[in-house]
Amino acid sequence: MSDTVSFGYEEVSAEEKEHRVGAVFSSVARKYDVMNDAMSAGMHRLWKDKFVRRVKPREGEQILDMAGGTGDIAFRMAEHGASITVSDINQDMLDVGIERAMERGFDGLVWSRQNAEELAFPDRFFDAYTIAFGIRNVTHIDKALAEAFRVLKYGGRFFCLEFSTTEWPGFKEVYDSYSHKLVPKIGQMVAGDAESYRYLIESIRRFPPMPEFEAMIRNAGFKHTKVEPIMGGLVAIHSGWKV
Ligand SMILES: C[S@@+](CC[C@H](N)C(=O)[O-])C[C@H]1O[C@@H](n2cnc3c(N)ncnc32)[C@H](O)[C@@H]1O
Repeated sequence: MSDTVSFGYEEVSAEEKEHRVGAVFSSVARKYDVMNDAMSAGMHRLWKDKFVRRVKPREGEQILDMAGGTGDIAFRMAEHGASITVSDINQDMLDVGIERAMERGFDGLVWSRQNAEELAFPDRFFDAYTIAFGIRNVTHIDKALAEAFRVLKYGGRFFCLEFSTTEWPGFKEVYDSYSHKLVPKIGQMVAGDAESYRYLIESIRRFPPMPEFEAMIRNAGFKHTKVEPIMGGLVAIHSGWKV
């Protein structure tokens, strides 16, 4: 098969990946938030808090939260007074986010269905671009990075929070076994869907290691790139500037 991409451990066509990723997130949307807590023992909240501290959102800024899903990053940034646009390719995830925003009184957010690879926003529009646990699901990561660069103003900043590979000895083995064996079981119990969670774990394994992903960010044109591993690299914050 020519021009294949990874869908978890499988190689599929680009169209099939986009379709299957869509099906995964439509299936998990309603249980997405409770599953995040169940799988990470609540730690995803701390990682997201740290991520937003790094972004330093400020009043008056326009920030695009790409692959923003149900709004976790957007709500944290909106608390600092920035104007947030939440974009995601999946309307089911955005719908859950819109409901959560109404419940929590976040009424100033813009919700916009968009493919990260082909954004409808003008050039040099945003002060910052964030993407949390989203980029590994994108079919052509290089295209998404090029679009991030295009829509940022000069002086704008790019921040990505994503699972990576932990280098802590001992912990790596425990985590590998936990994620491959237990996460699909938790997915089955909590969300009635083992397969989607199997994909989510496999997609973590297929994602490029930190130095390789940092090089991709540089290749998209970003300068002063940085990687901050969390828990030995289990999760990492990648950042760069458009200068
Ligand atoms: C694991 S969720 C992360 C949601 C949120 N950022 C968070 O941290 O809770 C990944 C999101 O990426 C979105 N996604 C996948 N491919 C995308 C694409 N090509 N463009 C935009 N969003 C995409 C999915 O629909 C899903 O909502």
